[in-house]
Amino acid sequence: MTTTRTVREMAGEEPITMLTAYDAPTAEVIEEAGVDVILVGDSMGNAVLGYDSTLPVTVDEVASRTGAVARATDDALVVADMPFLSFGVDDAESIENAGRMLKEADADAVKLESGPHTVELTRRLTDLGIPVMAHLGLTPQHVNQLGGYTRQGTERDAAEEIVELARDHEEAGAFSLVLEHVPSNLARQVTEALSIPTIGIGAGPDTDGQVLVVTDVLGLDDWSPPFSKQFGDVRGEMQRAVSEYRRAVESGEFPAEEHSHVEHDVDDVY
Ligand code: KIV
Repeated sequence: MTTTRTVREMAGEEPITMLTAYDAPTAEVIEEAGVDVILVGDSMGNAVLGYDSTLPVTVDEVASRTGAVARATDDALVVADMPFLSFGVDDAESIENAGRMLKEADADAVKLESGPHTVELTRRLTDLGIPVMAHLGLTPQHVNQLGGYTRQGTERDAAEEIVELARDHEEAGAFSLVLEHVPSNLARQVTEALSIPTIGIGAGPDTDGQVLVVTDVLGLDDWSPPFSKQFGDVRGEMQRAVSEYRRAVESGEFPAEEHSHVEHDVDDVY
């Protein structure tokens, strides 16, 4: 069984695999494949809830989806992503929202899109027994401030700030750190600077682990970011199956005898 402790121990030892999931059947498949960590990402906003960004995602939506994923898994570490403005505004509210993920949805940990404003919160949550995965680099909840989903840490000052914040979050108790869309040489230096594991997305090969959004991996979206890789064509397979279903109903081929049941006692009711 993967725990926050085993994830910490994997740093520099063996690659950590992490994927997002937002429902029970997908989580089951991911766990059966032996993936270490399942992130119930607020990427659910774009990936499965039909929003244009992650900003509208609510605590209730993440809690409900996390519950589904947690019920479907035994071995993987389940991490609930705290949605936009559910943390960092008011301490008591942040703690209550993060606590819900463990108490109500059975998550093992929470992830916070991080910055200077999450260092003390990470310490507080960790002290209270809520393990925190930090997240630096591109933090999509800041899309309006960043002006797009652009690569981060490309200039010296910004790169130094990422290294410093990474150290601060480690010191505050974070058990791991996601690094999104940063140069690979920066991700390598952050990884070397920390003893907790780094998990990269669009951050090159030198982090302790990798994470991708499951709909990108499966080929379920019609768009995916350039740093992602499609490993299957689930959209194509869904299109094939749904078209085949429609054709079979329209042609009268479905339902066939083996899908139907006749009860002779009710032959002459009409
Ligand atoms: O919401 C999410 O899926 C994420 C990952 C891309 C790291 O934050």
